[in-house]
Amino acid sequence: MVVILVVNGPNLGRLGSREPEIYGSQSLEDINSALTAQVGDAAELKFIQSDDEAELISVMHQAVDNRTPVILNPAAFSHYSYALRDACAMVTGAGLALIEVHLSNPHAREEFRHNSVISGVATGVIAGFGADSYRLAMDQMMTLLGRQ
Ligand code: DQA
Repeated sequence: MVVILVVNGPNLGRLGSREPEIYGSQSLEDINSALTAQVGDAAELKFIQSDDEAELISVMHQAVDNRTPVILNPAAFSHYSYALRDACAMVTGAGLALIEVHLSNPHAREEFRHNSVISGVATGVIAGFGADSYRLAMDQMMTLLGRQ
């Protein structure tokens, strides 16, 4: 069965209580459960949340080694982590899909959020739809995998 990594970066383990006016009231567990229900038997999802840049880089290396596509919310690392960007480039460079997700629309927020160093190496980006951003990303991931 196809395996998809769903990876969330720093502070996203606090969803639900973290700035709910921006990020909504659902916890990461709520979002992950909805994704599990969405894919049913069509894919096995592996969920990873880490506040640690090195760990996220190592997850991308594992994605390459295991040939696993990735849905990634890089959180604040989106805006400045060239190291995570280079790791993501290895994922898409290996021919694996990597969809970047944001709950909020970073372009409508503070200027430092307007640039993502990840987007240029992602397969595509979905932002601004709250928890639905993950649902849309998963929908597109299943479409991409079906096309292979
Ligand atoms: C975020 C947007 C980032 O700017 C922010 O640092 C996050 C969450 C989002 O999902 O909207 O932590 O990636």
